[in-house]
Amino acid sequence: MVSVRAVKGTKDILPDETASWQRVEAAARTLFARYGYREVRTPIFEETQLFARGIGAETDIVSKEMYTFDDRDGSSLTLRPEATAGIVRAVIEHNLINTDPALKVYVLGPMFRRERPQKGRYRQFHQLDVEAIGYANPMVDVEVIEMALAFLEACGLQSYELVLNSVGDAACRPQYVEVLRTALRANLSKLGEDSQRRTESNPLRVLDSKLPEEQELIASLPKIGDHLCAPCREHFAEVKRHLDLLGIRYRLDSRLVRGLDYYVKTTFEVVSGELGAQNSVLGGGRYDGLVRDLGGPDIPGVGFALGLERLVLILPPGEGERRCDVFLAPLAAPAIDAALRLQHELRKSGVRVLLDPEGRSFKSRMKLADRLGARFVAILGDDELGRGVWSVRDMAGSSQEDVPMARVALHLKEKVHG
Ligand code: HAM
Repeated sequence: MVSVRAVKGTKDILPDETASWQRVEAAARTLFARYGYREVRTPIFEETQLFARGIGAETDIVSKEMYTFDDRDGSSLTLRPEATAGIVRAVIEHNLINTDPALKVYVLGPMFRRERPQKGRYRQFHQLDVEAIGYANPMVDVEVIEMALAFLEACGLQSYELVLNSVGDAACRPQYVEVLRTALRANLSKLGEDSQRRTESNPLRVLDSKLPEEQELIASLPKIGDHLCAPCREHFAEVKRHLDLLGIRYRLDSRLVRGLDYYVKTTFEVVSGELGAQNSVLGGGRYDGLVRDLGGPDIPGVGFALGLERLVLILPPGEGERRCDVFLAPLAAPAIDAALRLQHELRKSGVRVLLDPEGRSFKSRMKLADRLGARFVAILGDDELGRGVWSVRDMAGSSQEDVPMARVALHLKEKVHG
């Protein structure tokens, strides 16, 4: 019979990997709290129209990557391809805008996009998504960026690059898009099929193209930075000034338009050379019209999302995991009862204990204890039974001592907890 395998583009995160995931998640929770962010958990599926209206019907995500299905009552549902739209929906629905005096939230969980799977790109992946809603001040753009970088450092990531741009707003971008479209139309023959189509549907996306033969033309196209209105220019100048103030280095890239339509003003990404083609570890920006577009008041927002698979992929390996503090080795059959009692007592007092119930040789048990990272091995063989002691071996120092049976639980507790 053919065995069932994981669906293409999905990935099991196995016990050996979860330690890194948990480390990263714990670092996020600790750090984000320091900046005033609190966790929200929104559903992983939503009404399809939320994403169509929020992310933009013309984007790749909405037009070809969503997992959409009809519910039994005929309504159209979609597995969330990102978290921002769902967060904004929840914020509006529960009136958090008027009841939360400092609306800063994060979501940690799976997202779904039907992209072509490759290294760092999956169909189910996990994001850490951070949103500050209700703040127009460029200081908040910088705070969000600063927190993103502090998080990467807390996780031990050493080499990465912050890329920054401003994509203008409703006042100036439409004019720029027309200027861009005109320039693209004049050069259609130099463009591939996708970019030719996007010249009409969404010319900004042409700037994202990776096709080698289009790069020369793209480099010569009009730049959004030269077409920003005064408020967008001032906002961007303030963002850069604050980044400089904090000593945060960045590279300006006028092609950083991002793949979602809700962005205005600031956009940013953190990229890593170690990731290959899918080099974006995190991406975000400002989305001042989104809350209004989704039926809420006209208030601003800024945030980012980080891909956890990508981060874990490039983190330096952590130390070997210790899976127990104490390994019990009852070598003689009558020792088993004493070992079970000791195990029960130690676990109750917070010691991590493993016991090999399979009756292997002494040597293979010691090997097993070593593989499990045990700090202490407590041995109870015929000889120890006769003398009424456990022989406790310190795996780091390789020293061994006899401990009377009545005191062994206390002895090990003290050794482990210090
Ligand atoms: P995004 O750039 O689409 O932005 O995704 C953010 C991050 O999610 C990427 O930088 C990448 O690390 C990860 N990611 C995206 N697609 C995949 C995939 N198929 N496989 C693995 N990782 C992936 C957003 O989603 C916006 N909602 C970010 C945001 C929040 N902007 C403002 N607030």
